[in-house]
Amino acid sequence: MCGIVGYVGAKEAGPILIEGLRRLEYRGYDSAGLAVISPEGRLGTVKEAGKIAQLEGILDEGMPPGTCGIAHTRWATHGAPNRLNAHPHWSQGRDIALVHNGIIENAEVIRSKLSDLGYIFETQTDTEAVVHLIDEAFQENSTLEDAVLTALRQVEGAYGLAVVSSRDPGKIVVARKGSPLLIGIGKNGENLVGSDASAVIQHTKEVVYLDDGDCAVLTAEGYRVFHIEEGNVQRSVHQIEWDLEAAEKGGYEHFMLKEICEQPESIRNVMRGRLLEETGDVRLGGITLSDEELAGIRRIVITACGTSWHAALIGEYMLEELTGIPVEVEYASEFRYRSPVLEDGTLVLAISQSGETADTLAALEEARARGASTMGIVNTVGSSIARKTDFGIYLHAGPEIGVASTKAFTSQIVALALFTLYLGRRRHLSILQGRELVAALRALPDQVAQTLALGPLTKELAVVYGDAQNFLYLGRGYQFPVALEGALKLKEVSYIHAEGYPAAEMKHGPIALIDDDMPVVALAPRDSVYAKVVSNIEEVKARSGRILAVVSGDAPELIGKVDHLIEVPHTVPALLPVLTSIPLQLLAYHAAIHRNRDVDQPRNLAKSVTVE
Ligand code: M6R
Repeated sequence: MCGIVGYVGAKEAGPILIEGLRRLEYRGYDSAGLAVISPEGRLGTVKEAGKIAQLEGILDEGMPPGTCGIAHTRWATHGAPNRLNAHPHWSQGRDIALVHNGIIENAEVIRSKLSDLGYIFETQTDTEAVVHLIDEAFQENSTLEDAVLTALRQVEGAYGLAVVSSRDPGKIVVARKGSPLLIGIGKNGENLVGSDASAVIQHTKEVVYLDDGDCAVLTAEGYRVFHIEEGNVQRSVHQIEWDLEAAEKGGYEHFMLKEICEQPESIRNVMRGRLLEETGDVRLGGITLSDEELAGIRRIVITACGTSWHAALIGEYMLEELTGIPVEVEYASEFRYRSPVLEDGTLVLAISQSGETADTLAALEEARARGASTMGIVNTVGSSIARKTDFGIYLHAGPEIGVASTKAFTSQIVALALFTLYLGRRRHLSILQGRELVAALRALPDQVAQTLALGPLTKELAVVYGDAQNFLYLGRGYQFPVALEGALKLKEVSYIHAEGYPAAEMKHGPIALIDDDMPVVALAPRDSVYAKVVSNIEEVKARSGRILAVVSGDAPELIGKVDHLIEVPHTVPALLPVLTSIPLQLLAYHAAIHRNRDVDQPRNLAKSVTVE
């Protein structure tokens, strides 16, 4: 995820900005850059792909000394991770520099309008549209803040941004909508801006969190906050209680917990600018096939590993139910070594958070060699899988640092739902069915936020059950892959042995294991197989099993039959896995804490398995 830091004061800005960038490194990035304005109003910028150390190495080349500047770490969303696309972006006259987090949804519209006015675009980023827009707005405004305001009134999407200009030096103008930003109030005639507290905490613990719609002007003397619609506003000053190390994790104890809690936002990001309520459809810029080519897809093979493979199984249920296209899901490690039959009309879809998993990459190459058309659902922009597929969908979930995949999993499910809708609406899925799914997707981030309130309950359950040697996870239909994923999460971070099983298969073998030493997590949201799962739960109860049931809404049928009810909000069956997987992530996390495990870097595991 991108990071922003800015400084205005009496000290040399360059080293402070570099230090701030280092504090943001934990968020993950592929390139970095900074812009500094000298007291005489000369704007200097440097940016580079790769690590901050490389940027530091070239800092002195052509950089004027200055006491006001902005800096950025980029995690690519639009355009490859290279020097050109790195931030800051500048105006044609090189007198305005801007850094931006978020996604500008109407960047194409702005680009085409400004191109008609003679603006030349050098990068593939959405951000460049905003800096040219500010440049254009400067024609009718005399201050940087007024030019920024005029420009932002034409911008749709999410942003946290910081701008400096040699036309109005000695100040940083910042704005926030949907992407966090805070002001750090310095002590000795200096002020800072950061996308999170870790960027400023070395200089100050007094911060002002900006709200959506807020802009601010920072100078060495002070700061002023104003709202894009309401004019000047007062925002309270907060005291940061964390130390530096905790600040990197946004105040959370572990990356895994931080990433679990980020899911309302990561799910918003995968849908941003893609939902079309009116037509019950989605806009997917990355799907470059014509409607005719899409109509030619007769079979889909999804290939992936680990958690991404579990998301693929959920995709199989969705795609078959809502598009009627036959789907198979293959472990990438198996697919690559057999002789898969890929007849004409087969689409091979690779799912991967990192985009670098060796087996998935090799499966993709096998599919390409056999002439199949290939698609990727990938989080990491510019990764090998993203580059080697013919087209695809990015997750925009931000970097996932905890080894156990959490937010990427739920974003993968949502991306699969978007693709299902896209294909379905170009086949037989009606506008009404489309609208129902779009409405459910729209409601999902808030429902995820509500589900996160299960934190304290899952923590208590982790204490009660965290010493068990084995766990069984049961689910049917859409919830079977969730059972597999719940078991994998628990295994990975707590080292408790766990099995995921289709609930009805239990009586064909695993039922022999059930006793009161083996907790059973039963996924029982109110979907088409609810009554069947209730019967399976009764079978467990009859054998003295201890049951934790995940339900959606009320479940009176289960009262007295299970030991604990874990209630998530209800939604359409295809999206229920997003909600039911969250308490399982939390349970795994708290069980790992209870057992004193290294949650973010469990033994023997790597975040990205780039070897066979
Ligand atoms: O980066 P990928 O999605 O391709 O990674 C696939 C698996 O290695 C990954 O999901 C792994 O299973 C995680 N540790 C699960 O938490």
